[in-house]
Amino acid sequence: MRQRGFRLEHFRTKLGRKIVSLFLVCALLPTGVLSFFSYQRVRIQLRDQSMETMETRALNAQMGALERLQSVESELILMAASPMVDQALAGKRDTPSQANRLRRLSALTLFTEGETTPLVGDLTVVPQLSPQTLVDLDRGRTALEVVRRAGARQELLMARALDRDDGRSGVLWGRIVADSLWSTAQVYAIDITGDEIDLQDDKGFCVLDGALQPLDCAGAMVSWTDDGLPESINISDDSYYKGSFSWVSGGERFAGQYRVFPLSGFSSEGGNWTVLVGRGERGIIEPLTDFRRMLLSIFVLTLAVVLGLSAHRIRQIMEPLAALRSGTQRIAANDFAARVNISSGDEFEELATSFNDMASQVGSLVEDLEELSWSTITTLARTIDAKSPWTAGHSERVTTMAIRIGRELGLPEKDLERLHRGGLLHDIGKIGVPASIIDKEGPLTDSEWQKMRDHVTIGARILEPLTPLADVIPIVLYHHERWDGKGYPDGLAGTDIPWLARILCVADTYDAMRSDRPYRTGLGPDETLEEIAMCSGSQFDADAVLAFVDCQVRAEKETPALESVGSRLGAPRDSWRTAF
Ligand SMILES: [Fe+2]
Repeated sequence: MRQRGFRLEHFRTKLGRKIVSLFLVCALLPTGVLSFFSYQRVRIQLRDQSMETMETRALNAQMGALERLQSVESELILMAASPMVDQALAGKRDTPSQANRLRRLSALTLFTEGETTPLVGDLTVVPQLSPQTLVDLDRGRTALEVVRRAGARQELLMARALDRDDGRSGVLWGRIVADSLWSTAQVYAIDITGDEIDLQDDKGFCVLDGALQPLDCAGAMVSWTDDGLPESINISDDSYYKGSFSWVSGGERFAGQYRVFPLSGFSSEGGNWTVLVGRGERGIIEPLTDFRRMLLSIFVLTLAVVLGLSAHRIRQIMEPLAALRSGTQRIAANDFAARVNISSGDEFEELATSFNDMASQVGSLVEDLEELSWSTITTLARTIDAKSPWTAGHSERVTTMAIRIGRELGLPEKDLERLHRGGLLHDIGKIGVPASIIDKEGPLTDSEWQKMRDHVTIGARILEPLTPLADVIPIVLYHHERWDGKGYPDGLAGTDIPWLARILCVADTYDAMRSDRPYRTGLGPDETLEEIAMCSGSQFDADAVLAFVDCQVRAEKETPALESVGSRLGAPRDSWRTAF
């Protein structure tokens, strides 16, 4: 019967596992490889885009810082020309404060001939200028100095030489409001376009002086720089040198862009400054989270489709296989009418057609063989019976009777078939008994009796080489055993005697008693039946006799004599001389 629907057991079959493996390799492997390379490609693109953005922002920050330094310089120059400075140069200390005019400077101090005169704010100590810086100041350039003091924030100072026509001279120092350069005090930086660089979360911004010491940092880079600056920053003497950097801080890797910018137009002993713009790697690849989710969905969807297709394909294969297996099992059980119906339109259908042709041919061959077998057995039985005119037709009659008894007892077909073959062959051993003994009219001598009894062992020996008839040998060998153990050849008793042999014994005895013999005339049916009934439980198995009587009564339409037999069953007496 064709099995419909997919079952999980199909996945556990060798073929099912092979199909699933093939589908998985063919579908998931390309999907996985494609996903992997797509992911890597997108990751690289995201990183490249982020680096480009940071490079632009570093440039903007640099330009913005320069522009604001120039603004500071302009403010210092403006203040240098102010009346407040003139009066200070003239030695007047009670000059009006110009503090409210300062925007990018938080303090002003006049330095003249070793004397420091604070004009605005508390700038009382100024650094010692180098000879080169003094030369630059004389040439009209503005000096830019970074002053670092322990425990305090570094100061950015700007200096401008004062040289009046009346011979008064000095240096005007101003302290720069650092936040006015890049607004790093806020959480954002302002680039040259005025846009705010968002420094929230993982973004950072930092300006280093020529010694790579932070002038100011903002955003996440405040904490990053606590662990030191990345070694990948390479400061070159070349102007506008730029590059990328990466380093690990606080367990997180981050990358960024740096840009060195010269303080052109200023005299700076500290060297060029450097702008850093960085961002954590996690933030850079954060957009990949959605991409990963999408890839996972594609992977799961592909897996589901693969399993679905595999299940469908496995079912298409396993159903015909199951039908073919069922067909072969039925053939093995001698059901040659078994046919397989497959309409898959592929090689399975061709295989089913071949299978059905084979089953048909095998069935015909087996039928022919069985017919030949039965014909051979029947021929053998008639050959045995033909040996003596007294036993003509004996084997076939005994067989008929034994089968009737067997049916009365409800034996299965297999046992009835054994009874059939056993009945036909039960006296085959008489081939080895001289006809003079079989046909002897007078009493047999002991030697003759022994030869007559030997027909059961001779019959068993004849059948021994015939393997298909091995199951009837017990019938042939023991059909002369008696229930009370007085039979031959082994003197078996009771249920030690094979059941079918006990049944055949009754049928054999009945036919022998009914038949004429050289030494007596056959008995009538009633008398025979009564005699057999009398020997129930002594010579014969009582159940076999009871079944025999029942079927005889039914077959011979019941006679008063037969009816009376049943009531006397179970009253054994000594047996009488049976046929052999
Ligand atoms: Fe016999």
